[in-house]
Amino acid sequence: MSNLVLYRKYRPQSWDEVIGQEHVVRTLTNAIKLGRVSHAYLFSGPRGTGKTTIARLLAKSLGCADLDLIEIDAASNRGIDEIRQLREGIKFSPMAGKYKVFIIDEVHQLTKEAFNALLKTLEEPPAHAIFVLATTEAHKVPETILSRVQHFNFKRLAVSDIIKKLERITTAEKIKIDPDAVRLVANFAGGSYRDAESMLEQLRVWNDKTIIKQDIEELLGAVDFEKVKIMTDHLSGVEAKQAIDYIGKLCEEGTDLQEFSKALINHLRKIMLIKVDASLANLMAQELTPDQMETVKKQAEAFSLDNAAKVIRIFMSAQQDIKRSPIPSLPIELAVVEVISSKGQIESNKQNV
Ligand SMILES: Nc1ncnc2c1ncn2[C@@H]1O[C@H](COP(=O)(O)OP(=O)(O)O)[C@@H](O)[C@H]1O
Ligand SMILES: [Mg+2]
Repeated sequence: MSNLVLYRKYRPQSWDEVIGQEHVVRTLTNAIKLGRVSHAYLFSGPRGTGKTTIARLLAKSLGCADLDLIEIDAASNRGIDEIRQLREGIKFSPMAGKYKVFIIDEVHQLTKEAFNALLKTLEEPPAHAIFVLATTEAHKVPETILSRVQHFNFKRLAVSDIIKKLERITTAEKIKIDPDAVRLVANFAGGSYRDAESMLEQLRVWNDKTIIKQDIEELLGAVDFEKVKIMTDHLSGVEAKQAIDYIGKLCEEGTDLQEFSKALINHLRKIMLIKVDASLANLMAQELTPDQMETVKKQAEAFSLDNAAKVIRIFMSAQQDIKRSPIPSLPIELAVVEVISSKGQIESNKQNV
């Protein structure tokens, strides 16, 4: 068991181990209790949020034996032949129990013909068949299919929930890691447990050293709050030099500028939301420590709503240019100049009036 990768080892084996996705869990467990399980579900949502996990739990709760749980990866089996095979196989009764569960992962990748064949099956499924279609891109699933399934939208997971699970794993696995470092991993995972758990897997290489925030920055290119905070301070000033110097320093330290600008945009977004309405701060409370929250609120005072929106737009386009730029730091430097000189203009316009 110990050589299993973390995300497999800690995949929930029962409903009460599932974190978040309450709406899905509640509806499904009720349906099972009442014997009203539907014949076809669509689970959509970002990767690593529990679609496969919950599909398997559904099968397990229905007393479905391993042989009666059929998982098909539509990313590698896109065609009509696979679906025909499935339609043949579906006729046979389950080996044990009452149901056969078919999980079709990344279902949006099926070809048009394969979708049509699947549709026929969904129109008149045998009583023992239950389909769980999973996808990260629900908008690519044809309307005809959507109208025949019960659709659940899986949500990105809250950073605070990811932290809880990471803490459980680090305790169980005796991984020594600073709480700050755990927070950074959870933030960086973008709402995906799987990403968080894979990162922890990578970090496990230091088995006797305590993992600290800097290790994670180095290994994953994750960007610490402190760096974006400093940059934001520079941006709210009127002097480009300090900001440009700071970019130089980041480059020297080996900071991944792509990740840095992503983090900066995320940070500026928080400022913008606070400018829209202070109560929106609640939305981000889980991503930040109380201290960090205070910092963001304070920094927001130096921006107007328009200004914050504009700065975000400038950095978003800079971020897209980084890959193509001959000098990786150039797009960010240009963005800084644009932000600060546009402010200079506003100032001088004011003086001229
Ligand atoms: N809601 C959740 N609660 C607890 N662990 C989760 C949850 N979602 C994902 N995980 C963890 O992430 C891993 C990948 O989840 P998975 O169900 O395969 O994601 P998906 O199919 O949505 O891409 C699981 O093995 C599990 O360890
Ligand atoms: Mg999956």
